[in-house]
Amino acid sequence: FAYFSLFSIVGVSSYITYCLYKELNPKPQTAKSVIHENGSKRKNIVILGSGWGAVTLLKHLDTSEYNVTIVSPRNYFLFTPLLPSTPVGTVELKSIIEPIRSITRSTKSQVDYLEAECTDVDPHSKRIHIVSNANNYEMDLEYDYLVVGVGAQPNTFGIPGVMEHASFLKEIPDAQQIKSKILYNIEKAASLHEDDPLRKSLLNFVIVGGGPTGVEFAAELRDYVDQDLNKWMPSISKEINIVLVEALPNILNMFDKKLFNYAQDLMMKNKIDLKLKTMVKNVDGNIITAKIGEKIEEIPYGLLVWATGNGCRPITQNLMSKIPEIQNSRRGLLINKKLELLGAEDSIYALGDCTFHPGLFPTAQVAHQEGEYLGEVFHKKFLIDQLQYTSKQNNGANAELIKKNDFKIKKLQSKIKDFEYKNQGALCYIGSDEALADLAIGESKLRLSGGGLTFLFWQSAYLAMCLSVRSRMLVAFDWVKLHFVGRDSSV
Ligand code: FAD
Ligand code: NAI
Repeated sequence: FAYFSLFSIVGVSSYITYCLYKELNPKPQTAKSVIHENGSKRKNIVILGSGWGAVTLLKHLDTSEYNVTIVSPRNYFLFTPLLPSTPVGTVELKSIIEPIRSITRSTKSQVDYLEAECTDVDPHSKRIHIVSNANNYEMDLEYDYLVVGVGAQPNTFGIPGVMEHASFLKEIPDAQQIKSKILYNIEKAASLHEDDPLRKSLLNFVIVGGGPTGVEFAAELRDYVDQDLNKWMPSISKEINIVLVEALPNILNMFDKKLFNYAQDLMMKNKIDLKLKTMVKNVDGNIITAKIGEKIEEIPYGLLVWATGNGCRPITQNLMSKIPEIQNSRRGLLINKKLELLGAEDSIYALGDCTFHPGLFPTAQVAHQEGEYLGEVFHKKFLIDQLQYTSKQNNGANAELIKKNDFKIKKLQSKIKDFEYKNQGALCYIGSDEALADLAIGESKLRLSGGGLTFLFWQSAYLAMCLSVRSRMLVAFDWVKLHFVGRDSSV
């Protein structure tokens, strides 16, 4: 047994070291070019975004077959599933980001990255306009294929005051803002007399939206208050009130009833004030106004985190406005089963949260599978283009070759199947080292709730989902560190 353990440890460590070495020392890339070796045009693919959909596509694309350009204002990939852990310091922000440069550097052929925002798409002339605020330039880019993976922005439903007063939890700056607000409120409250009403209000942390983002953040906040703040500021920690507001009768509606009931019971046990059937209607500087049935209730807050789902980004609306008679859904870009944009099927693809397709949810899992699928589609399209090119070059001289090519082309076209989403289930952290897991294994469902084992499964699944060995190591290290020295929430 001792030998077996020793060999296993040495084997696993060597493998990890090898993978890390390979990741940090990428092979030289082949250069971009206007034409392929046989003289055919090398087509341009422009990918908008550096999130789940775009980056997965890039990882599955044979970049020697196309000239690939990535345009995104965010120069890193963000591992969103662990974002709710960051404002309280359970996981460090640096651990869950992956520089886009290291991703573009590890592809087979050179990929260009432009740190810019796409502000206009013209599907008719196949051009986009991009603006870089960071680097102070703007320009037009031409594409043969455009892949839109711009994600979504927080939805405020036009509720007055949300934009001005609430914090969101979608990007790194959001997490940083929440962290500094928590610290500010705690220190400010500590400087006030115990009877001061402002002290109570500052320590009222309200989260609106009982979807997985709101629930996971409420759970992380509770853990931080009970496990860390309680040690250093015991009286303040007892005064902190965490409120989770949800318009529907339950939180986590995408989970099975047994699971969301389990989560609700645990949250109530952990003294999270659950306000169900409570629809927020207005937000001002320190009070939210909500409707509970016919009753109106005012809830004071010191920190307000708004997590009520997704809305379309301006660039998504811009693209819809170019094909208004077909792109008429307010929920996202309409695509067909091959992820082609309706109205621009020959040249534009869209994936992830910026799209709306019945049965496909705005999750990382969907965007990831769509990215994998598009990588395959582009490879087959390349092979078809090459066959068409050789037939055209042959100019009718060899009828047999053209017939053979036509046959191969038809076969390849038939191999471009519709996208099929394979639901692998859902996971959600609910606090006190407990998680929900609603897993789909083949046709059967496995429902796990609570307990140390589900939590371990949740941790292992998220580690496996991390994009790189580096990120996996950093997240694992953060979790081990948490065990020994607690959360680092000082800055
Ligand atoms: P994103 O990943 O959001 O990427 C969009 C990209 O487009 C970004 O790089 C952005 O900078 C860029 N962009 C924006 N505007 C422009 C523009 N004009 N031009 C060019 N680029 C632009 N899903 C799960 O399945 N499991 C989870 O555990 C999970 N946890 C989550 C936790 C949180 C806190 C959040 C907010 C979401 C979570 N999700 C989870 C959902 C998941 O993150 C999204 O479904 C996923 O990120 C969608 O991928 P995407 O590529 O469509 O968009
Ligand atoms: P969501 O759309 O899942 O949930 C938003 C919640 O806010 C809903 O329950 C809705 O009823 C509520 N709401 C809306 N308006 C309200 C109002 N005015 N007052 C009170 N409540 C209101 O949004 P969320 O959590 O931001 O998630 C977005 C997407 O990301 C989802 O598809 C989700 O599945 C995915 N995600 C998945 C995670 C996971 O799998 N662990 C974690 C986080 C997000």
